[in-house]
Amino acid sequence: MKLIAVSDEEELSRIAAEILISKIKTSDRLVLGLATGKTPLGMYRYLSKYSIESKQSYDHVHTVNLDEYVGSQAYHTYMKEHFFQYVDIPSEQTHLPNGEADSLTVECKSYEDIISNLGGIDLQVLGIGENGHIGFNEPGTNFDSRTHVVQLTESTLSANAKYFIDTNQPKKAITMGIGTILESKEILLLAVGERKANAVKELFKGSINKDIPATALKVHPNVTVLADKGARSLLDKES
Ligand code: PGA
Repeated sequence: MKLIAVSDEEELSRIAAEILISKIKTSDRLVLGLATGKTPLGMYRYLSKYSIESKQSYDHVHTVNLDEYVGSQAYHTYMKEHFFQYVDIPSEQTHLPNGEADSLTVECKSYEDIISNLGGIDLQVLGIGENGHIGFNEPGTNFDSRTHVVQLTESTLSANAKYFIDTNQPKKAITMGIGTILESKEILLLAVGERKANAVKELFKGSINKDIPATALKVHPNVTVLADKGARSLLDKES
């Protein structure tokens, strides 16, 4: 695992965007795995600005998002609002799990089919939960799991409660599995702030274990972690 140490969220956002832009510019076709949450917002801002200012087309990019809440379109809305509305990726090339599907079992299977029909994910962007989750794969998730429905933990619900002040917060989500994520050719994990410091410490210093889902990434051959000072704050100390 490669660690890129950055000073703050701004630098992290710029470097993450530059990594994606260099792939977008040098590929005829690119399958990007995308994440939501607070951490990648700045990256989407840079990617959108670059597309508008440079006139670089993104029309050869296909996207598959990690997750969506059950009974909600919250992350569909997030992606449109923060990224898709600014770029020329055809909407039929953008994919998120449908949390409002009649059959979630069928939806999970179809989502796996979408990813495999695309030929797999070239580069998957990940955040990391305070509890070490990746996507919505909560502690205890099997490392060979495929796209599935999860019951969110109290830690995740409380970290994300701020996004559901006016509406009921869904307690379940559909997420790509850890096995699905690990099949990506390359992974870029973004971590900002001291709240992530323990999860980042476990990722680098801890053993591979299901209690910290991100430690599954230790077996992947091509993972880059971009972490700011706060997220690295427990790495530099004796453990
Ligand atoms: P955050 O979420 O970017 O909102 O902190 C990250 C995650 O839970 O994976």
